[in-house]
Amino acid sequence: MRLSLRKPDDWHLHVRDGAALNAVVRHTARQFQRAVIMPNLVPPVVTVDQALAYRERVLAAANSGGAQFEPLMTLYLTEKTSVEDIRRAAGEATIIGAKLYPAGATTNSDAGVTSLAAIDDVLAVMEEEQFPLLVHGEVTASHVDVFDRESNFVSGVLDPLLRTRPMLRVVVEHVTTRDAVNFVRSAGDSVAATITPQHLLFDRNHLLVGGVKPHLYCLPVLKRASDREALIEAATSGESSFFLGTDSAPHARSTKENACGCAGCFSAPVAMELYAEAFDRAGAMDKLEAFASEYGARFYGRPLNTQNITLEKSPWTVPDVYPFGKETIVPLAAGETLAWRCVDHE
Ligand code: NCD
Ligand code: ZN
Repeated sequence: MRLSLRKPDDWHLHVRDGAALNAVVRHTARQFQRAVIMPNLVPPVVTVDQALAYRERVLAAANSGGAQFEPLMTLYLTEKTSVEDIRRAAGEATIIGAKLYPAGATTNSDAGVTSLAAIDDVLAVMEEEQFPLLVHGEVTASHVDVFDRESNFVSGVLDPLLRTRPMLRVVVEHVTTRDAVNFVRSAGDSVAATITPQHLLFDRNHLLVGGVKPHLYCLPVLKRASDREALIEAATSGESSFFLGTDSAPHARSTKENACGCAGCFSAPVAMELYAEAFDRAGAMDKLEAFASEYGARFYGRPLNTQNITLEKSPWTVPDVYPFGKETIVPLAAGETLAWRCVDHE
């Protein structure tokens, strides 16, 4: 069986820099027309000039083989981010928003924001310019249980923020809980959420029962089965506020299979295959195209892609590893048999 879809976009992606960038970005360019490139490099991508320079590096790495991939850049918000840079970014077609990392929440977030009050002038300009705020929605206080960090962020940070700044456009990135899904539903058209393949396919039992699986460890961490059900229901509901964002976050195998393993699932080589798996299991293949290829573009005010990709229902086995500079990298679902595959360049 074959299914032709409008070419999708990945509205949340990490591609790193240097040799890692060269190793991973082609996987995304194979399936996706555009991707929102996360700014959590070391050092982070803070200014417009840095974002535009990073964009050139991503373009060079992605399109050396003739692909037509379009990176959409983000600025990393710090407590030193200037109002002028935000106004300038809002006028750049290739910069799509600014990313809020609560300091300490995840990989390379040390330069992030400790309190929203510290960036209130920037948030005011983002609201005025209708320049989207992309949020990593987890509180970081050490006493808050890691499984509660997203829910606490939604009720304790996001809800008050949107009461103060009701016109702010917000994408709650990689939602993982029923609480976050309910919040996005209740919040109106200016608030949306991305959903990853791992949060649609796995819960914390997959991560922890029968031995810890480092390649399923990401942040926000996988939650309960009931949360996963809420995510599947949201993704397949046909509601335009939920759209595709893989959060593919490459880390070398040696840094994942480690006494202090890094957070992040590398899903880029199998992204559409995994979403197809999740939608097919939910009996909702007819909802995949809008989730993957329409709602994100609509939220960000971008044209729909005009090319197509083809998904084919023919079982295949995900490779155990891919090259990653001088190292290797383990993809999400390594060694597993998937029902769907994405047929190249049609
Ligand atoms: C991301 C990374 O490695 O950059 N890791 C992850 O677990 N998702 C950062 C992030 O998006 O939180
Ligand atoms: Zn991410």
